[in-house]
Amino acid sequence: MFAVHLMAFYFTKLKEDQIKKVDRFLYHMRLSDETLVDIMTRFQAEMEKGLGKDTNPTASVKMLPTFVRAIPDGSENGEFLSLDLGGSKFRVLKVQVSEEGKQNVQMESQFYPTPNEIIRGNGTQLFDYVADCLADFMRTRDLTHKKLPLGFTFSFPCRQTKLEEGFLLSWTKKFKARGVQDTDVVGRLANAMKKHKDLDVDILALVNDTVGTMMTCAYDDPSCEVGVIIGTGTNACYMEDMSNIDLVEGDEGRMCINTEWGAFGDDGALEDIRTEFDRELDLGSLNPGKQLFEKMISGLYMGELVRLILLKMAKVGLLFGGAKSSALLTKGKIETQHVAAMEKYKEGLANTREILVNLGLDPSESDCIAVQHVCTIVSFRSANLCAAALAAILTRLRENKKQTRLRTTVGMDGTLYKTHPQYPKRLHKVVRRLVPNCDVRFLLSESGSTKGAAMVTAVASRVQAQRKQIDKVLALFQLTREQLIGVQDKMRTELEYGLKKKTHALATVKMLPTYVYGMPDGTEKGKFLALDLGGTNFRVLLVKIRSGRKSVRMYNKIFAIPLEIMQGTGEELFDHIVQCIADFLDYMGLKGVQLPLGFTFSFPCRQTCIDKGTLVGWTKGFKATDCEGEDVVDMLREAIKRRNEFDLDIVAIVNDTVGTMMTCGYEDPNCEIGLIAGTGSNVCYMEEMRNIELVEGDEGRMCINTEWGAFGDNGCIDDICTQYDKEVDEGSLNSGKQRYEKMTSGMYLGEIVRQILIDLTRQGLLFRGQISQRLRTRGIFETKFLSQIESDRLALLQVRRILQQLGLDSTCEDSIVVKEVCGAVSRRAAQLCGAGMAAIVEKRREDQGLEHFKVTVGVDGTLYKLHPHFSRILQETVKDLAPQCDVTFMLSEDGSGKGAALITAVAKRLQQQGKEN
Ligand code: BG6
Ligand code: BG6
Ligand code: GLC
Ligand code: GLC
Repeated sequence: MFAVHLMAFYFTKLKEDQIKKVDRFLYHMRLSDETLVDIMTRFQAEMEKGLGKDTNPTASVKMLPTFVRAIPDGSENGEFLSLDLGGSKFRVLKVQVSEEGKQNVQMESQFYPTPNEIIRGNGTQLFDYVADCLADFMRTRDLTHKKLPLGFTFSFPCRQTKLEEGFLLSWTKKFKARGVQDTDVVGRLANAMKKHKDLDVDILALVNDTVGTMMTCAYDDPSCEVGVIIGTGTNACYMEDMSNIDLVEGDEGRMCINTEWGAFGDDGALEDIRTEFDRELDLGSLNPGKQLFEKMISGLYMGELVRLILLKMAKVGLLFGGAKSSALLTKGKIETQHVAAMEKYKEGLANTREILVNLGLDPSESDCIAVQHVCTIVSFRSANLCAAALAAILTRLRENKKQTRLRTTVGMDGTLYKTHPQYPKRLHKVVRRLVPNCDVRFLLSESGSTKGAAMVTAVASRVQAQRKQIDKVLALFQLTREQLIGVQDKMRTELEYGLKKKTHALATVKMLPTYVYGMPDGTEKGKFLALDLGGTNFRVLLVKIRSGRKSVRMYNKIFAIPLEIMQGTGEELFDHIVQCIADFLDYMGLKGVQLPLGFTFSFPCRQTCIDKGTLVGWTKGFKATDCEGEDVVDMLREAIKRRNEFDLDIVAIVNDTVGTMMTCGYEDPNCEIGLIAGTGSNVCYMEEMRNIELVEGDEGRMCINTEWGAFGDNGCIDDICTQYDKEVDEGSLNSGKQRYEKMTSGMYLGEIVRQILIDLTRQGLLFRGQISQRLRTRGIFETKFLSQIESDRLALLQVRRILQQLGLDSTCEDSIVVKEVCGAVSRRAAQLCGAGMAAIVEKRREDQGLEHFKVTVGVDGTLYKLHPHFSRILQETVKDLAPQCDVTFMLSEDGSGKGAALITAVAKRLQQQGKEN
């Protein structure tokens, strides 16, 4: 009895002594809670640094955006291929995910070896090998006939700008294949796959193993928002708020960040806790100076750390009586699995002896106890360090959520964590001690990271399918060169129809004579009034023209025309106009002065002389009754009479295109064409009198107001009309009319966009599938919004803000799509307008029998002026379709009022000359 006690006492004493001895020797490896809290704080600062745009380039913890934005929601389904490369084992898998009411995942997998000559050889060969394994897997499982999406779990640091691309920053762990760093590993694999002509895989997602692990666990527990690997290497990822991720545009929602915490300390931040053993181990590694945190923690290094310590202890006589074996002197002879075995609860000591003996040593009882304790200190330090970094992440999550207590789940994987007997317990305990305000559930990923990678791939494949649907819609707006030439040819035909007596009555493009015979010659002078009705603004102007110096001074006032007047009775409309004139005269102190007036009236009018114009039909937003078929000059005169307050001398009625051409022609005598790309769309140009069959005389030229907006009213461009164009037409004030204008002008482009957005939303591709009241509202996308949205200078966030101002609650992805839709619609508009213009200039060139024709086009209109791309695309198209014409576009700065005044001046002069003769 006494002997037993004595033995027990002796053993306890022995153990205590050994433990004390090792504790003393490895004093530096035993980290107090105080130190751990300090490390935790340092890691928090590192994360901040990695996330900041300016600080990221020099940060050692890279905090890589993964483009994984959400954890699985259970709606994922489909069949996927998966590769899992970079952990201790390389696997190829097929994953089948089905909803079927309850979540269900089936996996088939096969391991393939990764010999050193492959993972440390030539990069191309490495990817060829991976592709070969995948091919083998597909062939043996009869998957060759299918095109399957593939998720690539690649457990190394990659810089991603999208889910399906990633540039390797550096190899870590055991890999060191040449020529891969800084290349896109997805592209590399895709290239290698091309060699297998019978196979067709679509690599949709590149996923780090931490991300895969988090997603795997989140599939079972939706509160999982962190993934940690403690295996060959160590790393963690977590869901970060987008607003904190400087490197990715957008601030809505969250994105998973791959911290690459293994590199913590690479900038020297952990030098105070690194030991001589850490330094020695690092020097002998494949990547000296790199992954210093990982080297203190993960499985690839733990056994080696223990070996270096034992060797040193033997050398100084603290172990094995100072004896060393050649195995103990050999790098890599102690592995992490040995450490785990030595720390086993019951058989640990026996295992230790066996392992030491196998290393050619002859350990005493006390040696075994000491060695076991060395293992404990090394593995405990590993768990402590992981706990400190994880605690930093958890704190960040809690603070992001502004919660006092965080309940969350951490997905865990890696052989060290899974196979070391004490590791999980220790890690959990320390984490809970370091962050007492977090309730953490640790969930082991039973099925590796591929299940999660398949979830990511499933989402990517859904996004890809949606993308295809969106592209299909946008494709309707992409016109080929042949189609544009077709438009140009048809326009040319319509122009001729309108001019010819025989065909004029049936022609859609009316080619209206304007009785404007020439351009201003600089001799015009006098004071004139002008009205400018029919564009975005209604203006009344006073224009003073001085001859000689060609100077024009203008005073104008903008007046609103309320909708109920635009669409009320003709009398109301003209009374309102006269009211505005009266206000203006008052304002200018001109009451009682009788001035000649030019009336810019931007609607199709049939004229028989310069001061008579019968409204053919309202266009754009006007629909006042009792005007169509009436002479609008008469209507204006009558309204003036009704008011009986002042008299005006209405000398000319002028279309805005004509006014614009005149305004520009005053500066540039080459200007013979006027274009409006604004609320409406129209062109006028100088035509040879001999071609204008409706007007007597063959001499000289006259300006023709084409009213090309009506092009297509006979169905001649139905082939390029989309369902959205039809919807816009049907919802307009003049259904069936102005079909070309409805594809090219500001008043309708926004409406086309709105119709497309409604359709995409209906298809579930936008606005979470919810068609809001706002989206149902006609006219929300004015030209100015369209122009803002398409501005290149605008970041996505600003686009989103504009949409929000419009009352459309959109995500960043929505904003991208909306911008694309706007782009497609406005581009088509500019191209169509360009094709029309090409028809005009080509006609003029041919009519004059010229090889080359040089001409200036005077342009006005908010679409042309405000839109960031419209004018450029228009000009490019004209150049392309009318290569023999040298067309200069001149923006009218002063509006068409100035031109109307010039026309009035000429008409007044002619009037007077007429009277005198
Ligand atoms: C596996 C995952 O379970 O764990 C891999 O499927 C991961 O993606 C690996 O890389 C990490 O552990 P280890 O110990 O194999 O490096
Ligand atoms: C103005 C002209 O500058 O532009 C108007 O003065 C013309 O006569 C208008 O109608 C066209 O552009 P919008 O965009 O206002 O229709
Ligand atoms: C290494 C890799 C990292 C990976 C980790 C675990 O640290 O750099 O990407 O997640 O190992 O496998
Ligand atoms: C409409 C009108 C036309 C005008 C154009 C531009 O197309 O019918 O007369 O020139 O809009 O304002």
